[in-house]
Amino acid sequence: MKKLYSPKLIVAAMFAVFAAFPLCAQKFKVNYDESKIPAYQLPNILKKADGQGEISTSLEWLDSSRPRILSVLENEFYGRKLPRPAKTEFEVVDEADVLNGAAVRKQVKITVSDIAGSHSFTMLMYAPKSASKGNPVPAFIALNFKGNHATSDDKEILITKAWMRGVKGNKAREEDRGAAKKRWPFEEIVKRGYAIATIYYGEIYPDKEKLDGTPESVYRIFDSNAVEMPSIAAWSWGLSRGIDAFETMPEIDSNKIFVVGHSRLGKTSLLTGAYDKRVAICASNDSGCMGAAISRRAYGETVDIITTQFPFWFSKNLNKYKNAENSMPIDQHQLLAMLAPRPVYVASATEDKWADPKGELMALVEAAKIYKLFGAKELPTMDNFVPEKPFHGDVGYHLRVGKHDLTVYDWMNYCDFADKHFGQSKK
Ligand code: GCU
Repeated sequence: MKKLYSPKLIVAAMFAVFAAFPLCAQKFKVNYDESKIPAYQLPNILKKADGQGEISTSLEWLDSSRPRILSVLENEFYGRKLPRPAKTEFEVVDEADVLNGAAVRKQVKITVSDIAGSHSFTMLMYAPKSASKGNPVPAFIALNFKGNHATSDDKEILITKAWMRGVKGNKAREEDRGAAKKRWPFEEIVKRGYAIATIYYGEIYPDKEKLDGTPESVYRIFDSNAVEMPSIAAWSWGLSRGIDAFETMPEIDSNKIFVVGHSRLGKTSLLTGAYDKRVAICASNDSGCMGAAISRRAYGETVDIITTQFPFWFSKNLNKYKNAENSMPIDQHQLLAMLAPRPVYVASATEDKWADPKGELMALVEAAKIYKLFGAKELPTMDNFVPEKPFHGDVGYHLRVGKHDLTVYDWMNYCDFADKHFGQSKK
């Protein structure tokens, strides 16, 4: 009898299914149906700590609610905010005019030292050539997934020696130079008058799924009796060291630092905004579960899934909330509000259901109540859940058409939003 399906066809079909849904989505029951979202009670962001009534001033938020939320973030969700290292050194290992003379490229080796040793990572940076002591520019900073050398074709970009996910031997390769350049429109950003810096996240904490990344991470400089050493807190700490580097550079206006992060690094950028008040604006790009999305919706990725797949990203205490989101002491709208009154920007993508785009906007709309206490007037509503009609008010939001990704569209929106808040004119 003639075979109906060839083995090749079956393999191709399987590949299509795997590509369309993240691997873990197949092991867990994932809900994508709004009508099946469990009944839940969202913590009232305005509720006073003692449960008696609501706060009505920004001061009450800063003095009472914010510290309480910070303590939950540290003790229950992401792990403690790491201290500044005893010593941080910055060595400019490369400096050159690039992009036809429009920009200066710098590679800065950042060495952090504390009681148990030293650790280094390299920040790649592009700044407009015109930036100087008398004319400092605002700067973006974002971690990258594939190494600095993957962000551009530029042959001078150093290749990391750190462990790398998804490549043979877990070693960065020359052939991947420029492989992620679509996510890094350096030239366009510099043309808009901004500097942009990036660090390979694996140099801060190797994102090993089955193995332990802590011995090769920044945690090794601290006392090894530290109770917990989760990775998102470490990545976030690495971004803060990048901000330390900016503070030494006369060409950077360190009051105008805009942190961007995609996906797990979007979760990281939000935490950085919460932990480091030097962050002036913070964008979470498709950050999803334990990023911008409301956990209680349990739509797409859930606390159970994320803590099973990536336990080392978080504090062990997060495990308490597996399939028990409704008992979480806070939800992600309260993480977003930690930025207030500094502008926070949430970006989602229409096809990125895993990250629950609607739940991301819902969190922002709820967080807006805190911005209102600070006098903000331009705030989003659920009516902004419309593809490619960006909302740039006191906080920012857009829903890009397409997949889970960081694109030029996303970046140009961040530049527009930065123009509005940093008072730059559109170039
Ligand atoms: C996985 C994970 C997400 C994460 C994403 C990423 O899909 O489940 O939580 O945001 O990886 O970082 O790319």
